[in-house]
Amino acid sequence: MSAYQEQYQWAQEQPELFWQEQAKQIDWFEAPSTILAKDEHGIERWFPDGVLNTCWLALDHHCEQGRGANTALIYDSPVTGAKLQYSYQEMRDQVARIAGMLADRGVTKGDRVVIYMPMIPEAAMAMLACARLGAIHSVVFGGFAPNELAVRIEDAEPKVVMTASCGIEVNKVIAYKPMVDKAIMDSRWKPESVFVLQRPQCEAELGQARDIDWAQAYQAALPHACVPVLATDPLYILYTSGTTGKPKGVVRDNGGHAVAMKYSMGTIYNMPQDGVFWAASDVGWVVGHSYIVYAPLIHGCTTILYEGKPVRTPDPGAFWRVCEEYSVDALFSAPTAFRAIKKEDPQGECLKQYDLSKLKAIFMAGERLDPPTLEWVEDKANKPVIDHWWQTETGWAIAGNPTGIELMPVKAGSATKPIPGYQVEILNELGEPVAAKQQGFVALKRPLPPSCLPTVWRNHDRFESGYLSQFPGYYVSGDGGYLDDDGYLFIMGRIDDVINVAGHRLSTGEMEEIVGGHPAIAECAVVGIHDELKGQLPLGFVVLKDGVNIDSLTLEGELVNKVRDSIGAVACFKHALVVERLPKTRSGKILRRTIRQIADGESYTVPSTIDDPTSISEIERVLRS
Ligand code: COA
Ligand code: AMP
Repeated sequence: MSAYQEQYQWAQEQPELFWQEQAKQIDWFEAPSTILAKDEHGIERWFPDGVLNTCWLALDHHCEQGRGANTALIYDSPVTGAKLQYSYQEMRDQVARIAGMLADRGVTKGDRVVIYMPMIPEAAMAMLACARLGAIHSVVFGGFAPNELAVRIEDAEPKVVMTASCGIEVNKVIAYKPMVDKAIMDSRWKPESVFVLQRPQCEAELGQARDIDWAQAYQAALPHACVPVLATDPLYILYTSGTTGKPKGVVRDNGGHAVAMKYSMGTIYNMPQDGVFWAASDVGWVVGHSYIVYAPLIHGCTTILYEGKPVRTPDPGAFWRVCEEYSVDALFSAPTAFRAIKKEDPQGECLKQYDLSKLKAIFMAGERLDPPTLEWVEDKANKPVIDHWWQTETGWAIAGNPTGIELMPVKAGSATKPIPGYQVEILNELGEPVAAKQQGFVALKRPLPPSCLPTVWRNHDRFESGYLSQFPGYYVSGDGGYLDDDGYLFIMGRIDDVINVAGHRLSTGEMEEIVGGHPAIAECAVVGIHDELKGQLPLGFVVLKDGVNIDSLTLEGELVNKVRDSIGAVACFKHALVVERLPKTRSGKILRRTIRQIADGESYTVPSTIDDPTSISEIERVLRS
């Protein structure tokens, strides 16, 4: 039996023993005596009587162990020219003061704090400061528009919002404070205080009574100690797109998360404790939570926080420059980032200028790693390229190539095999397992391993109905795919209305709500069509109300602005086509899948339940014109 099989089987057959053993790798205040139990909803919870503090594990523990002088975080910002390094001790001291600053404003255990910040060290420090107090952070990606921020503020009901005066994109400065003010104005929930970190590129006006200058508050604050919390207490809420307009608040607990983060650093990424780990993502996404902040620090590594892009900051050599400059051991990003590099530097000329001898492997997730991108990166970087599949809901990889156990042969298009702790099955519509190579719903047999969500914030019914009730005993991932004869998992894409644009998870349902809200629109469908660079792009099909007379280009411009204002530029909604009618079933369900297949030039079968077959030729007509 291979080392992987041995570990996989152990986790499957004796999950409690397996995870009890992994739990010994972290520094609990009180080690758990119960490993797995069920909560009042019948949901499995890990380590329920364990007591710990995640900030302690990430910072203080290393200082206690004599590693305080090691570098915890490197900030590299090609958009500002800044480069800074923080030792574990410096990080611990600053985070303790930021925690004190929050406590001065009444933040205590269980309170929520919304963090809307660009990729600067204080964003990671703010997260850790919340963890230190046992407060629950909810980071909102800086690229989201005020409306998205408002929805999250309303749902999380934070006592405090933490922000910075601006974010910096390629050649443009984006003022954050007016967006925060607008979001709070639009939200029914009003936070008591807003901390604003002033950046010299664009200082904010602190005109509201609730506004607090971060630097001044920091100067006045005293360091705060780590507050003990239960393993099952929430560490954070991270909102993610579902099938409706309302994002889901994925809840992450403290104990299971810490154990899984620690386990993953060795098992999946094969990282030594003093290694340098770089997740080129954003703290607003789950990859940023897990692999810019928590896992590398809990493991004792140096983490890199990069405020820049793979290209244009200043060139497609940016990733390789950072890898050389900081002797990065493992690089993790989304395939779209490498497609952008490949587009601008197809021969890898920029890459050749850098010494990548320290780099051991390149990991990718966030969307399917398409075989041409895999081959290009393997060829040019001459390193193992590892695809792994996961979701905001799990917080770490469900399937991958566990390089810390053994590097299995890579199969292009596959995320390799389930990680020990996960039991992946492919089910048909009746919930029955299907044969190898047959596609179906990718489901995870319960219990889910530590770190996976136990609920949706203040909406447990949504957790049950969205993930658990379709197939009793299973969690439904929302992805379709298959297992091959060797047990390799191939994820083929979402089977719901979620799309993936440049590694960003977005809801077409939400876009439809926004487009459908335009006074000229009777009904609409938004589908995710294939895009060479970003993986998918949204495309709208709209039917006008009777009697409406509007030029289609004017309408398209208005709809594009509407989506941009509501969700943000990251939605990349750029096109809307006017059609006479949409293909629907006789019961009125819009045939989005068929529309997408036509738009992507795939072969398709028209469902026998179609109401009006001419609606198909209508879609073909507008796409041709
Ligand atoms: N704050 C404000 N605006 C933001 C933003 C942020 N944090 N991030 C992106 N935007 C804006 C961009 O400025 C751009 O606006 P524009 O339409 O006015 O030009 C828009 O959102 C789209 O941005 P982006 O998706 O970054 O597209 P791009 O064409 O500028 O760059 C890539 C393309 C592939 C380089 C880029 O998408 C990328 O680096 N992707 C990797 C994503 C990733 O790491 N995902 C995490 C999962 S691991
Ligand atoms: P997010 O919650 O933003 O991380 O997005 C999760 C979704 O991204 C998954 O449900 C998949 O649809 C997709 N995804 C993430 N990683 C992969 C991968 N390695 N291969 C295929 N799809 C992926």
